[in-house]
Amino acid sequence: MPQQIDSAAVYNNEAQCAAAITASRLPREEIFFTSKVRNISYEGAKEQVAATLAATQLDYIDQMLLHCPYGGSENRKRAWKALVEAVEEGKVRSIGVSNYGVAHLDELEKHIAELEAERGGEGKGGILSVGQWEIHCWCQRNDIVEWCRKRGVAVEAYSPLVRAQRFGDATVQRIAARHGKTEAQVLIRWSLQKGFVPLPKSTAVARLKENADVFGWELSADEVEELGTSEYAPVCWDPTTAGLDE
Ligand SMILES: NC(=O)c1ccc[n+]([C@@H]2O[C@H](COP(=O)([O-])OP(=O)(O)OC[C@H]3O[C@@H](n4cnc5c(N)ncnc54)[C@H](OP(=O)(O)O)[C@@H]3O)[C@@H](O)[C@H]2O)c1
Repeated sequence: MPQQIDSAAVYNNEAQCAAAITASRLPREEIFFTSKVRNISYEGAKEQVAATLAATQLDYIDQMLLHCPYGGSENRKRAWKALVEAVEEGKVRSIGVSNYGVAHLDELEKHIAELEAERGGEGKGGILSVGQWEIHCWCQRNDIVEWCRKRGVAVEAYSPLVRAQRFGDATVQRIAARHGKTEAQVLIRWSLQKGFVPLPKSTAVARLKENADVFGWELSADEVEELGTSEYAPVCWDPTTAGLDE
């Protein structure tokens, strides 16, 4: 299974990720390296692809996302076009968006159709393969998830551990104790069983191992249901609610 590394220009860690990839001595095809475009415009996306390739010394980027919808409609369309061109040039393998609300996703679908018409046909508008959002038991984003499911778009879930702010929750503790697992493992397992690609972060080696040790057991369907709340309580930024002109 390839090792997914979620980086971004704004995290200032692309070069460090690349150094870790080199140090791991894993074959390139066993790495899945993601980065994100900070400045949502045609030039911003073009420059970002070049800068990421330069910073990482990788031959190609597995996945490039528009980090957020901020920038206005025309800039979003043109940034997307730059990513489509990067795929055609072999610099990027797959493209997607992060922190887009349903209105931004609907608009992107329109932009893809427009680009197809402008650039000469099917596929020329690019393929939305993946989206990344803050998703956990206290921020389920069912509208966005449903939009993606209908179109076969993979959903990556960031902050799946709620930035450690919900440890101690009685339901999570009870279910963790029942399975002999940690609360972090229960939250990651919930994300996996909901069909997401969870992106837990830790700076501690022991926790990295704990967070990866989530296979060979399952939450019941009732437990998955019980863990998911109706709260809308993001702990990170939330550009999904931005207007289309922002
Ligand atoms: N697209 C976006 O806009 C966006 C935004 C935010 C994040 N992300 C991505 O999502 C990743 C994760 O998100 P995040 O860092 O916001 O949140 P997170 O993974 O939910 O939480 C990280 C926090 O949980 C702690 N932690 C990790 N494993 C633990 C364990 N087993 N037991 C107890 N505490 C544990 C970490 O502390 P220690 O380090 O001390 O273990 C850290 O404080 C980021 O690295 C980034 O790649 C994307």
